Amino acid sequence: MIVDSQDYNSNLPQPDEIALKLSESLQEKIRLAITESGGSISFEQYMQMALYEPGLGYYSAGSSKFGEQGDFVTAPEISPLFSRCIARQCQQVLSEISSSKSSCSILEFGPGTGTMAIDIMLELARNNTLPETYYLLEPSADLRQRQQSNIKNTIPQLEERFVWLDRLPEERIRGVILANEVIDAMPVKRIVIDSDIQEYAVSCDFGAKGETRFQWLKTDIDQDLKSELQELQEMFDTLREPLATPYITEINCNIKPWVNSLSDVLDEGLILISDYGYPRQEYFHPQRHAGTLICHYRHQVHDDPFLYPGLQDITASVEFTTVAEAAVDAGLHVSGFTTQAHFLIGCGLDQFVSEFESDDVAERSKMTQQVSKLIMPGEMGEKFKFIGLSKNLDNQLCGFSFIDQRSRL
Ligand SMILES: C[S@@+](CC[C@H](N)C(=O)[O-])C[C@H]1O[C@@H](n2cnc3c(N)ncnc32)[C@H](O)[C@@H]1O
Repeated sequence: MIVDSQDYNSNLPQPDEIALKLSESLQEKIRLAITESGGSISFEQYMQMALYEPGLGYYSAGSSKFGEQGDFVTAPEISPLFSRCIARQCQQVLSEISSSKSSCSILEFGPGTGTMAIDIMLELARNNTLPETYYLLEPSADLRQRQQSNIKNTIPQLEERFVWLDRLPEERIRGVILANEVIDAMPVKRIVIDSDIQEYAVSCDFGAKGETRFQWLKTDIDQDLKSELQELQEMFDTLREPLATPYITEINCNIKPWVNSLSDVLDEGLILISDYGYPRQEYFHPQRHAGTLICHYRHQVHDDPFLYPGLQDITASVEFTTVAEAAVDAGLHVSGFTTQAHFLIGCGLDQFVSEFESDDVAERSKMTQQVSKLIMPGEMGEKFKFIGLSKNLDNQLCGFSFIDQRSRL
């Protein structure tokens, strides 16, 4: 059965010629993959190609993405205070570890423009608690280049401590692993729960001018998901509020293997994951009957992932109970879960704000606005969460010391 997607073209800004050409090349590749697979591919594969197809996918090609000129703004780009708070948490863990052994490191997944890495290292340098190495693991060649030049231009004195990786290091590390807004950028499966569970695939046809048009296609769930079907069914049975069907939602099958791989590489320390999302009972809430999939294009949010493939971000909220369960299965300890506002306050945001000295009224008001964005409930304060997964740590983590909400998981 074909399901129509809405037409947003009329409301969104038009891309320029060059961008449209890139998008057309990507559409052609996706169309070919659909033909070779006999008429459809899973939405997960579509999202993988739309975001990460080498040279053409949204994160792989050269568009701005971040900041005012791009499509969205992330917390590290809003204010350096966000990264200074994370640095505080890193500092606490690094000091606990380095009191027993030497050589600590930080490993950041998906560092975007490198802004968070820069601000964390500046804060740690100020406090004389620099890690030996700051690893950056970035699948996008374009973003990696941007990180390298930003670091070189901003903190040349610390450049030697940064090491870029293509995959997780062979040797286990002691320290902190960071991932801010990374899980939401992982490809997801999209399913619909009705009398049974079906999966949304992607097919295509041609429009009036011969252009490729992608469409939703309901199919039987694919092999990967079949093995998890019973687990999924059991999970839905534990929900306090039964799902009103049909209920569309997303399943991120990458979370478990990813958390497992992080646990394997971490000898001692903390994995700190921050992203927008909910614990299971809230994620699968009747209100979210159309799923959590959204797209960002030039600071506008909509829900059509087939619009301008390669030119817009596609993302789904994180179901944090799955992250916690995957961690426990992988031998990690869930050491805290809380909202972004509570995490930043626990790390001393108030103190950073009170230390801010400037006679310039405009500067002070800019800082107040930035802090509001980070912590107000209607902005990022509540929707964004932090989860801490630790190995061989004894001390309570400062980020979760203000309010710890593990009982919500
Ligand atoms: C929304 S951006 C967030 C960037 C940055 N962390 C920030 O907060 O500004 C998502 C980032 O995650 C990266 N990413 C996605 N999947 C990844 C994976 N499996 N491993 C490492 N990075 C990944 C993307 O290339 C991109 O840099």
